[in-house]
Amino acid sequence: MAKTRAHEPQPMPHTKAHHLLNPLRSLILTPEKLVARLDLSPDFRVLELGPGPGYFSPTVARSVPEGKLVLVDVQQEMIGSAEDAGFRYCATHGNFLSYTVNFRKER
Ligand SMILES: C[S@@+](CC[C@H](N)C(=O)[O-])C[C@H]1O[C@@H](n2cnc3c(N)ncnc32)[C@H](O)[C@@H]1O
Repeated sequence: MAKTRAHEPQPMPHTKAHHLLNPLRSLILTPEKLVARLDLSPDFRVLELGPGPGYFSPTVARSVPEGKLVLVDVQQEMIGSAEDAGFRYCATHGNFLSYTVNFRKER
């Protein structure tokens, strides 16, 4: 049977990104619990693939104060949402965003 477009894998639409910031997610896994599992050193350079609007990203970035967090998402709009999470970014190129670990605000 020929594959139709409807059967091709699609990323979660960026228009639904706000669902990924629902606080009820903490019932399953908080960003702090994720970071505890990662055992990061302060100078680590971390690549987060598919960060969406950045539910985990600020907490991960705070865990590498002498390092760097790089976000790469296939949807440029998701990177735009992650920017709104309060990062002061140092570089944006389409769907690639490289952050320093300074924040304009806490989430
Ligand atoms: C379900 S969302 C999860 C977002 C985030 N990790 C979270 O837990 O809140 C999946 C994200 O991965 C991105 N994504 C899907 N395929 C990708 C790929 N091949 N490369 C980079 N990002 C991808 C989507 O655009 C979307 O933002």
